[in-house]
Amino acid sequence: MAEITRDVLIIGAGAAGLTAANDLRKAGLSVAVLEARDRVGGRLWTDVIEGAMLEIGGQWVSPDQDALKDTIEELGLETYSRYREGDSVYVGPDGKAHRFTGEMFPVAPETEAEIARVTEILDALVAEIDPDRPWAHPSAEDWDTITWDAWLRSQTDDDEAVRNLAFATGSAMLTKPTHSFSLLQSLLMAASAGSYSNLVDADFILDKRVVGGLQQVPLRLAERLGDDVLLNQPVRGLEWSDTGVVATTDQHTVRARHAILAHAPVLYSRIAFDPPLPRRQHQLHQHLSMGFVIKVHAVYDRPFWREQGLSGTAFSPYELSHEAYDNTNHGDERGTLVGFVSDANADGVFELSAEERKERILESLSHYYGPEAKNPVVYYESDWGSEEWTRGAYAASFDMGGLHRYGADLRTAVGPIHFACSDMAGAGYQHVDGAIRMGHLVASNIVDASRDAGAVESGS
Ligand code: FDA
Repeated sequence: MAEITRDVLIIGAGAAGLTAANDLRKAGLSVAVLEARDRVGGRLWTDVIEGAMLEIGGQWVSPDQDALKDTIEELGLETYSRYREGDSVYVGPDGKAHRFTGEMFPVAPETEAEIARVTEILDALVAEIDPDRPWAHPSAEDWDTITWDAWLRSQTDDDEAVRNLAFATGSAMLTKPTHSFSLLQSLLMAASAGSYSNLVDADFILDKRVVGGLQQVPLRLAERLGDDVLLNQPVRGLEWSDTGVVATTDQHTVRARHAILAHAPVLYSRIAFDPPLPRRQHQLHQHLSMGFVIKVHAVYDRPFWREQGLSGTAFSPYELSHEAYDNTNHGDERGTLVGFVSDANADGVFELSAEERKERILESLSHYYGPEAKNPVVYYESDWGSEEWTRGAYAASFDMGGLHRYGADLRTAVGPIHFACSDMAGAGYQHVDGAIRMGHLVASNIVDASRDAGAVESGS
């Protein structure tokens, strides 16, 4: 066993952990980042599959994501816009593809009016929520004890309106069935992007990508840390006391004054804490679970849908792949579509053989883009549910009633143990932006504590 001693040890080399590690270094503290996988980036992962560069995890950047945008700029990375020229496609309850432009999709005028009316109500509610403290709203308990689906159905009898309103935070974001999370959880998701209207606006939320892939962010952050990032080091045990922590991996013992758990909260129980975490954390961590979505990549010899005047943007609450986009890489002659299959639909297709699943998913894409969609040259499914060190996608959220009951304690440090992850962010919640914000926040808390203890120079 190799022995390492640092000021701070960070468990997880995702965007949150690597941001914190860089900040701490800059403040004069020494760090070690222990990463379970053989790569950095966590839920950010760019790989080449059968000759196609695919962003297997997170990829998009939206205009409100200042923390991520600052990091991208500081790292000298270039961005490019998602292709969006031409018509979008909506498949309604009639099963037919309808083309449209603009934000409102082609539904009956009364459904359109209902969607607009409820969206206005939602934007007003979201404006009342502080994404960093949704539990502090006077109606938090009421809003956290009604399901998102039940609340929407209490607002309108129009089923098509409900399905379209529901899917923005349901299949498309929290990636859980809309009966399994609360109105408050949904409002937090929307507040984290500024408004419900922002969240449903694909041109806003899926605005830009990074040339070469968003994994460049953690790769470059890790580069700056050099040998202080240790791969293939799942942390198995963490001893802690008022004076510090001792982490054990299969090969290392790392001593430090502080530890940052910089990974999805569903994985805390993979670590044996000695002494155990307090009662409150034991309870609250059981009320968080990961969503579940398959990100489907289909690469074609050319972006054939553009020839038909289609932007590639397509969605339907009635389709297996509830949303899909042009995901062609910067400067690539080939065309890539990305589709998403969420929650119960994802459960369903994983009951099938790989061949049948592929066929069903491509059939769904063909409802948006025509029969050519059925014949990609490369086909790949990002399956984060089977990744041991993530266990779902995109992120973790509370079950019914959990957010107002436990949310306030999710980020609270326990002695020398601190927590940082996109899954506990306010702004940028469930996104890379949120991970970076949480990395900055936890690092600044540790620097302040170290300054008080005289371990770093005042003002550094
Ligand atoms: P993350 O999970 O990335 O990192 C945690 C790290 O800790 C991992 O590397 C893990 O291996 C490690 N770890 C866990 N347990 C450990 C242990 N015991 N010991 C050592 N290491 C351990 N976001 C966005 O902004 N735009 C987007 O387009 C998308 N799209 C998207 C698609 C898909 C398919 C996914 C899965 C996710 C997204 N996201 C996204 C979400 C985004 O990727 C995510 O919120 C952040 O990358 C999370 O970063 P964190 O650092 O918080 O955790």
